[in-house]
This record gives sequence, C-alpha cells and structure tokens, in this order.
Amino acid sequence: MLTIEEAKNCLRQGGVVAIPTETVYGLAADASQPQAVKRIFSIKGRPADHPLIVHIGTVAQSYDWAVEIPDIFWSLAEQFWPGPLTFILKKKPQVNKLITGGQETIALRIPAHKKVLQLLIALKCGLAAPSANRFGHISPTTAQHVIDEFGDDIDGVIDGGACEVGIESTILDLSTKQPRILRPGQISQQQIEDFLGQPLSTMKQQSPRAPGMLKAHYAPQTPLVLVEKSALGGQLKQYLAHNLTINLWSVSSPSIQHNKLLWHPSPTNSSEFAKVLYHQLRQFDTTLADITLIQHPPKLSEWHGIIDRLTRAAAHFSLDSYLPELNNCAEIQDKLAKEKLKNSPL
Ligand code: TXA
Ligand code: MG
Repeated sequence: MLTIEEAKNCLRQGGVVAIPTETVYGLAADASQPQAVKRIFSIKGRPADHPLIVHIGTVAQSYDWAVEIPDIFWSLAEQFWPGPLTFILKKKPQVNKLITGGQETIALRIPAHKKVLQLLIALKCGLAAPSANRFGHISPTTAQHVIDEFGDDIDGVIDGGACEVGIESTILDLSTKQPRILRPGQISQQQIEDFLGQPLSTMKQQSPRAPGMLKAHYAPQTPLVLVEKSALGGQLKQYLAHNLTINLWSVSSPSIQHNKLLWHPSPTNSSEFAKVLYHQLRQFDTTLADITLIQHPPKLSEWHGIIDRLTRAAAHFSLDSYLPELNNCAEIQDKLAKEKLKNSPL
C-alpha cells in the first residue's frame, strides 16, 4: 500500500498506481506521459481504441484538456463535481490521442474521494485512469480487489477503503449539440434533466464508443440470470430439479428451502445495492455454485445504472436458450462449467 506522497513520486516517474475514488478504484498514470499511459493499456489488456477518463483536481484544469466548452458544462460541474459524473468535451488539439482512443473528444472527471483529491492537488496534472480491472472483468471496489486482480503487475495501491458509490460514473456527452448520457450511473438522467430544466437527447450512439457500453461487459465467472420477482419461484424449482447449486440474491427469503439454494438478502435501496454490487458478484464467484440468480430491481430512474450493469453481466450467458433442451444434469453442469471457464481471469 502506498502513501499519497509515495504515490505522487511514483506517478511523477511514470509509474502506474491504483487509486481509490467514490465510484470504483482506478488504474492511474500521469496523463501527460505517453509511456505511462501505454502501460495502463497493456496491464489492463485494453484495446487501444477504448479511451480513458482524465481525472483532474480543479474545474479550471478543464482548460488544459478541452476546447469549445459549452456554458452548461460550468453549471453542471459546479453542481455535480467533485462527484460521479464524467463529461465528454471536445479535446484540445495538443492532447495525445493515445488517451482518447483516437477520438477528438476527451472525458474529464473530478472524483469525490479525499485521498485522490489530495493526490491530484499535489500533482497538479491530470491522471488518466480506467477502472482497475482487466478488460471485461468486474470493476474493483476495494484495494484488496485490485491486489487480487493485478498483484505485482502494478506499482502500488492507495487504500481508500470500500468505494461509497460502487458503480462507475455517469458519462454525459457535451461534445455535440444535444447532451446525452453515454453510460448511466448513480447521478441519474432525471437528476441532470431536473437541474438543466430540459430533456437530454435519447439518440443512440453509432458505435460502442465506451467499452462499458458493449453488450457484454462487467462479467462475473458464475453464469448469472436476472429474474423478475414473479418468475423467481418457477426458475428456482427448474434449476433445483436439474440438481444445480444456486446463489440467490433477492429481497425476501425464498419460499423453497433447499441445501443447494444459497440465499443472500439484497438491499432494497438503490444506493446500498450499488455500493455492494461488485463485491457481491465477486463473493458469488467464490461459493462454487453453478449459477447465480438475481431478482430484477425496480425499473425506476435511480436503479437505471444498476440494471444496466446487471443486464450486461448477465448478457455473457445464454443459459435460458439451452437449458430447456438439456435434460441431463451432468450435461447442464458441464455446459455451465465451460461458461465459468470462459470468464475466469486470464
Ligand atoms: O467511475 C468511473 O468513471 C471510473 C473511475 C476510476 O473514475 N472509471 C471508469 O473508467 O469507469 P473506464 O475506463 O473503465 O470507463 C470509462 C468510460 C469508458 O467506457 C470509455 O470508453 C469512456 O469512459 N470514455 C472515455 N473517453 C471517452 C470519449 N472521449 N468519448 C466517449 N467515451 C469515452
Ligand atoms: Mg471499466
């Protein structure tokens, strides 16, 4: 574990250090050092065309990275920064396209975490930092998650405790005429619209400009199925009939009791749910269950970011398409084990 001072020195020398933020841990390098930024991509196994967020310490530092900044940026930044909101702006011509994945836009955020703010103020430079997980894996929300994932591949970790928010920041694109959300997060579309007094554009993006927007992302190893509350009982019976061991994450205890059914109560409040989501998915991967069933959260604005992550985590698995065709338990377990292997850390 590094102190702020040690991390500062290491980053100045081109090191790659994991930093705590209020959303998830980030894998940081000095954004003005191309060699250091390249190391982030190679350590993460991230394709070069997936851009990074630059974390800054003051709103005024936006001028170092962006041009043609629209007026609403300043009022939104004043309202929501430091905090879990990332803005996409037009980049300054001098900004290295290595950071922006070849795009003409730049992502900026001031994170709301005491330790990282201290670091950013001391460094006076921007820190390029994606979430500190290997490409496609679950984002880390504790220092231990980062150590489990990268060990000695990185130059150190600042331990800032468990992340308060627990899911990645909301991304708001201000680089085009019509502001639009590229990635939902704790700050909801509704909150931004209420603040602006105008609706955001709902136009879909053309290509997956944000890897978090790929259909399958945020993958746990254990096959995951999202189930509406009304269908839970039926699904449980079906899986138990196939002799599967099940992790169940739902609000109320299941009506069926079974030694192959491992129930964990899920929070009813969206902030509490987001905070424990990634940790819980990691825990489920340690139970050796064949499958994880999660009760679908309420379809309300404040749950939007969570539903987005859960849907993508479940998109890796095609369980329901093949389960009805397989009657033999061994055959199903074999298929599930293969799904698990496909998603195990590299
Ligand atoms: O909460 C967060 O945003 C965390 C913490 C560490 O700040 N970071 C994070 O970084 O989630 P990452 O790299 O895992 O996700 C950043 C997202 C990616 O989906 C990336 O494609 C998108 O931001 N992004 C970055 N620059 C962009 C740009 N110029 N245009 C569109 N999307 C961009
Ligand atoms: Mg990520």
